[in-house]
Amino acid sequence: MVEHSPESNAGHTGISVQISRDSPISLTQEPSHDGLQPLSCSQHGIFINNEWQDSVSGKVFSVYNPATGEQICEVQEADKADVDKAVQAARLAFSLGSVWRRMDASERGRLLAKLADLVERDSIYLATIESLNSGKPFLPTLFVDLQATIKTLRYFAGYADKIHGASIPMDGEYLTFTRHEPIGVCGQIIPWNFPLMMTAWKLGPALSCGNTVLLKPAEETPLTCLYIAALVKEAGFPPGVVNILPGFGPTAGAAIASHMDIDKVAFTGSTEVGKLIQEAAGKSNLKRVTLELGGKNPNIIFADADMDLAVEQAHQGVFFNAGQCCTAGSRIYVEEPIYDEFVRRSVERAKRRIVGSPFDPTTEQGPQVRQHQTRVLEFIQTGISEGAKLECGGKALGLKGFFIEPTVFSSVRDDMIIAKEEIFGPVQQIMKFKTIEEVIERANNSDYGLVAAVFTNNINKAMTVSTAMQAGTVWINCFNALSTQCPFGGYKMSGNGRELGESCLREYTEEKTITMKMVNKNS
Ligand code: NAI
Ligand code: MG
Repeated sequence: MVEHSPESNAGHTGISVQISRDSPISLTQEPSHDGLQPLSCSQHGIFINNEWQDSVSGKVFSVYNPATGEQICEVQEADKADVDKAVQAARLAFSLGSVWRRMDASERGRLLAKLADLVERDSIYLATIESLNSGKPFLPTLFVDLQATIKTLRYFAGYADKIHGASIPMDGEYLTFTRHEPIGVCGQIIPWNFPLMMTAWKLGPALSCGNTVLLKPAEETPLTCLYIAALVKEAGFPPGVVNILPGFGPTAGAAIASHMDIDKVAFTGSTEVGKLIQEAAGKSNLKRVTLELGGKNPNIIFADADMDLAVEQAHQGVFFNAGQCCTAGSRIYVEEPIYDEFVRRSVERAKRRIVGSPFDPTTEQGPQVRQHQTRVLEFIQTGISEGAKLECGGKALGLKGFFIEPTVFSSVRDDMIIAKEEIFGPVQQIMKFKTIEEVIERANNSDYGLVAAVFTNNINKAMTVSTAMQAGTVWINCFNALSTQCPFGGYKMSGNGRELGESCLREYTEEKTITMKMVNKNS
């Protein structure tokens, strides 16, 4: 069993996590002033057919702690040959007559519920590894990411035996009904900003609907996903149903997207790669494609809004997870009469934001994920040279690790690069507007359409803006209010299809119409 020391709940530097159960990552750790330092990390294989395997090429790659820049361990590097092996395993597991295909739907649900229970059992360990590998502050990881992961698995566990079609009163003497069948072998490619949550968003619905899966975590953050693989086996999923392939995008990821024997690919990541995935699917076997891509999300603050609430929510909306969120509310439109006050308070709040070790309980913001720090700092320089006013921040922080100061730009114009492109870092852009018509047009004038938010105490303004937004999700007087029960996805270049919620089930099923001619021998 995993043993949690009493102080581990406190999330401070004294955490100790001991793993004495047979686990895929045996990580021994001891406290240091920087938080947890891994001493050793063994088992880091490719998970195919419920077995840990080495890469066909013999290659491994390094995984780092972004708070220190130090290597945590090496992981086996999956490439095309490993993808081929995993596809064979997943195809066999999906074949008619297999254990998985013959399994009662309710039993599939039970396995998923069991997986949720195992994640809950090991949540402190998982949150520790997630923080260590991604730089997320430990406490939010435990209370937000882990909870969301568990809830998502439970939610889709409940659906497994409730996915059904309809009987249809077709014209003529026929009996017609529909079946919602699993699509088949699903390739899933996820990013590094929410490694555990993305694993659950992908595995939950795919398995609930009866598919088999090859999942590729991001090369930056494969560790918690590998641990989930061990829990999948422990839960009792048959071999080949879930396969986890740590590796890089242009190799393992591209092999999944272009594979002739993968029936569906689900991707979360950049719009740039989303286009490549769609193209590869089109050029290979026209596999089903769902994409959850970037955002440059508008957050509209009217003068009548509760100022304290709007400032804090706008702050959290862009700085949560060090700004590494596709939902980041990075275009903030503030109505003219309160603009100066809003900027002043937002700057004050950003300056108070505590950046530091993910294992310090007071930390609000950890490091960026590795090389993405450079990209964000370049965007900040672009903003300065475009003439936006740098109100605070703007620089890297600390001598090691990939930290960035919370940064606020005011006097941002819509045509600036920092107002158009996804920065994916702790950088807030604040703009001014005068009328509701103007702000609706400006907010929608984006290639993206993932989320939007509006802060006002006027119901008419709230509804007018909400219905006008070209975005998959609109929040009124709140931000990042995501939940497993609600469909999530983008308009325009923010993606295709919906994750979470009941709507997600149609993304993992094919609908079959079965029609039988009724023969009445007496007539
Ligand atoms: P990315 O889109 O390159 O990586 C995400 C996933 O796609 C990873 O698993 C990666 O290995 C895989 N991938 C990369 N190239 C691939 C290819 N040719 N074929 C198949 N899979 C491939 O994103 P990256 O480079 O990590 O970040 C760049 C920017 O993308 C970020 O700064 C941010 O703006 C955006 N992004 C958006 C995310 C979201 O949640 N919508 C998540 C991560 C990044
Ligand atoms: Mg990339």
